[in-house]
Amino acid sequence: MTESKPSLSFDRRTLLGAAAIAAVGAVGVGGFLFSENALGPWRLTARRVADRLQEAAGGDFHGRRRNHAKGVAVAGYFESTGHGAELSSASVFGTGTYRVEGRFSLAGGNAHMPDDLTAPRGLGLRFLLPGGEEWRTAMINTPVFLDATPDDFYTRTLAFAPDPATGQPDPERMKAHLATHPETAAALGMIEQGPHAPSFRDSTFYGLNAFEFTNAAGDTVPVRWQLEPDAPQPTPPKDEGPNKLFDALISDVRGGPLRWKLILVVGVAGTDPTDNATQRWPQERPRVHVGTVVIDEVRTEDVGNVQDVNFDPLVLPRGIAPSDDPLLQARSAVYTESYRRRAGEQRAPAALRVEDVR
Ligand code: HEM
Repeated sequence: MTESKPSLSFDRRTLLGAAAIAAVGAVGVGGFLFSENALGPWRLTARRVADRLQEAAGGDFHGRRRNHAKGVAVAGYFESTGHGAELSSASVFGTGTYRVEGRFSLAGGNAHMPDDLTAPRGLGLRFLLPGGEEWRTAMINTPVFLDATPDDFYTRTLAFAPDPATGQPDPERMKAHLATHPETAAALGMIEQGPHAPSFRDSTFYGLNAFEFTNAAGDTVPVRWQLEPDAPQPTPPKDEGPNKLFDALISDVRGGPLRWKLILVVGVAGTDPTDNATQRWPQERPRVHVGTVVIDEVRTEDVGNVQDVNFDPLVLPRGIAPSDDPLLQARSAVYTESYRRRAGEQRAPAALRVEDVR
């Protein structure tokens, strides 16, 4: 697909926003060679990526997720319309109601970071399905990802890291990275165009990576998914405190259930890129509304409240399979490495205490 020509004339605000977005991901695989074209003895591994995320977190990461460290646990249910069955035989698309558990988060490795409206917002969900099956997904609120490959992610986190001398990212280093990564520059331009929702409640969350959906007849199509707010009423957070986004989310859920429509976007095999999350699919691709995610509980994340859940995007029910997107294997490996590390560390108390929010 053709994307608009990348502009390299980003202003300082955009570049700083990009630095916040840089916290989104990582790269690598535990012990596996991640990049076929790595030069020399250099190997991108899950451990290397987790180390990089720890550096970016600035030290306070023990017992916490190495990315999206700040978050709250939520629960609710998914009301399936049954319309997804035309695309996938997964039980989640049969008509019915399925329990979901999840976690809203902000990208970045510091669980105590002040809420930043430019940092990507995350939503991890697990759908608990009949027969003990699960579907896990971790989505963010940008319509494209900044990196096509794990290597691109890794080099971007270095290029966009704060300069120790100033505490700020170095705009020249960022521009140099964008000049050699036009897909990242183009994705940044798309993200910059917005819309920019002022709250979790009003955000659309995108799965971004493509997957293969196979229906009962054995037909397979590429699919991406997104959660769109059912009744958006964009209202900026009322207070300006360091937890303003999470405080608003907690009081919104207390005010009544929040709803998002689950939309499957159907790609054209062989035409739409399935291996590159920086590229959008054409707007005219069919969209199937397959149900509604309803969130009616918000909780501090303690044991039992998703603290011990790894929202690995490769935990999939039968009927959904990974595509050839190289980010998927990388994410799975790095999330596992992050989980392995935090599971073996002293548990830090939850950074956000839901009961403290009035
Ligand atoms: C190579 C690319 C990426 C890497 C290496 C990466 C890395 C990570 C790591 C290490 C975690 C913490 C996992 C844990 O301890 O449980 C995490 C969490 C998360 N990531 Fe990624 N990520 C990548 C791409 C993405 C993309 C493309 C999305 C969105 C589509 C995304 C959304 C999220 C979300 C929402 C969470 C928080 C999940 C939770 O609440 O537990 N990441 N990521």
